[in-house]
Amino acid sequence: MDLELTPNKIAVIADQNVLQLFPYYIDSLGFDAPVFVFSVLPGEQNKSIEEAVYLWQNLLENHFDKQSLVINFGGGMVSDLGGFVASTYQRGIPFINIPTTLLGMIDAAVGGKNVINLNGVKNMVGTINLPEKVIIDTLFLKTLSPLQILDGFGEMIKYALIGNENLWHEINNLENIKNQDIKKEWIDWCVSFKEKIVQEDLYDQGLRHILNFGHTIGHALEAYFMQKDRDEKKSFPTVSHGHAVALGMVIESYLSYRNGLLSQSAFEEIRAVILRFYKNLIKDFSASQIKTIVDLCVLDKKNCNGRINITMLESIGHATPNHFVSEEECAEAIMQMNA
Ligand code: GLY
Repeated sequence: MDLELTPNKIAVIADQNVLQLFPYYIDSLGFDAPVFVFSVLPGEQNKSIEEAVYLWQNLLENHFDKQSLVINFGGGMVSDLGGFVASTYQRGIPFINIPTTLLGMIDAAVGGKNVINLNGVKNMVGTINLPEKVIIDTLFLKTLSPLQILDGFGEMIKYALIGNENLWHEINNLENIKNQDIKKEWIDWCVSFKEKIVQEDLYDQGLRHILNFGHTIGHALEAYFMQKDRDEKKSFPTVSHGHAVALGMVIESYLSYRNGLLSQSAFEEIRAVILRFYKNLIKDFSASQIKTIVDLCVLDKKNCNGRINITMLESIGHATPNHFVSEEECAEAIMQMNA
């Protein structure tokens, strides 16, 4: 593969599990430079300032500089963290992303958002800085667990809902989703759709918010359950990113319907399809849970003057960003999941 890059040395920031599965993948790219491998533990809880410090220190100790290259090799957690480290070390050194999950391929690794979590709030500290390249190799899809497929598939459903009615119909024809069902052309479409939006609004001033459909509530749900899992010392997340975004999309579709943008039948179709793929979607929230989740929504970066910013659907395949809802409306929308 001709990458047109001639770094003096390479830091591979990699998910430990991916390294075990593909120990020679980076060699196969044909770089002629010494390679240093730094493995990170998978899991959103490791997208932290402590991990960033560990990686910065390793870059420093090994004399990495602006002629060096960082390769982020893993899922979204790795490209978020590794992109953050590369784009801040010496005020930024070049990096490329090799996403190994569906979520990474169609979302996290593309578009230059590099980020870590802070105090349990997702994606609070970061940079916007594009990678030199994103290498998408569908070979990696074969290794993904059903949960990892569902994690990325939530984003694919999102792309269909915000921009591609035909993709929605193809998705709707599936009973469930397996690795081999994911078509390369779907991935290519999602990536080029995202790239188009990012070209117009790299710094997330308005249009790019469209990519956050399902995520204002989704991220709050994810953060809520991440904290709960920590308190209960669970080793495995109760609610994955895909699960949280799936729930977030149902709730934000409901808000779109209640605000007179989306028809009731489209909302019901969306809810039915998402519930079909995400069978164990949490649907019973207590009043105190709803309050905490709404409080987390208020922390979302897209908000303005304390109002909660939601991307809404006008129809399947067409979304508009920057609609504001009150905390009460949000609470009511989460509550309707209990029905
Ligand atoms: N994941 C949303 C964005 O990159 O803007």
